[in-house]
Amino acid sequence: MKILDGKIASQAIKDELRIDVAQLSAEGKKIPHLAAVLVGNNGASETYVAAKVKACEEVGFISTLIRFEESISEAKLLTKINELNNDPDVDGILVQLPLPKHISDEEVINTIDPDKDVDGFHPVNIGRLMQGLSTYIPATPYGIMLLLEHYKIETAGKHAVVIGRSNIVGRPMSVLLSSNTNPGNCTVTICHSKTKNLNDYCLQADIIIAALGKPEFVKADMVKEGTVIVDVGITRVPDNTRKSGFKLKGDVAFEEVAPKCSWITPVPGGVGPMTIAALMKNTYNSCITKN
Ligand code: GUN
Repeated sequence: MKILDGKIASQAIKDELRIDVAQLSAEGKKIPHLAAVLVGNNGASETYVAAKVKACEEVGFISTLIRFEESISEAKLLTKINELNNDPDVDGILVQLPLPKHISDEEVINTIDPDKDVDGFHPVNIGRLMQGLSTYIPATPYGIMLLLEHYKIETAGKHAVVIGRSNIVGRPMSVLLSSNTNPGNCTVTICHSKTKNLNDYCLQADIIIAALGKPEFVKADMVKEGTVIVDVGITRVPDNTRKSGFKLKGDVAFEEVAPKCSWITPVPGGVGPMTIAALMKNTYNSCITKN
């Protein structure tokens, strides 16, 4: 069993980006600028946004963090997004999800200029992804593709089982893995909460992408020998032995599953850092295509 190490692969991507940004700077060109919007103080969202801002620093991007109270109205948030849309200095906009219940995710996503939608959540960008056109690929599935590419995992002709059908991960992941690309060219099955005999599908899988958000859902008896496993789960479960009071658990029971795998991502240190590297790549691409 070998580890698909997201820390190593993401560092390689960030190192390349840092060189590319230094080149832009040397040529007097515009430096990529990411605007991150955080509403409220959800602990996990705080951590993710802080990691995104830190990654911007590492690669030499400019970043702006815009924070709002939990109680901000939807109208005020949309006004801010429109300001960012109209600000020529801003290349990428991300609004960290989830948003408070009184704000519609859909309204917010639809308001972001598709050309600055570096999360790749806007329907225009999702449509472009479906058609195989150039687009901003949602950061988590894009990061997984970059991870498979980094470790030269063979995917053509393989059976990939994606567990979870979210707009952010499962659905775009299934499109990417089935695309005529490398990585790609998989035969893809999407499983979800209504799937019957989920174990049978998993046992036929050469590649499993676990993205359902249920800690340790994938057990050893669901996995055949030699499977490649990508674990997208990062649930905080209480742990009194830790200073933070929690530990992160993936969707895969790592200890029992890992010995059966050819490759597996750890949690943390697998998909998480790749998501951030992918966001940085989208932001860089947004900057260079507009300038
Ligand atoms: N919440 C969970 N994942 C993501 C992501 O990739 N982007 C944003 N904006 N919010 C998220």
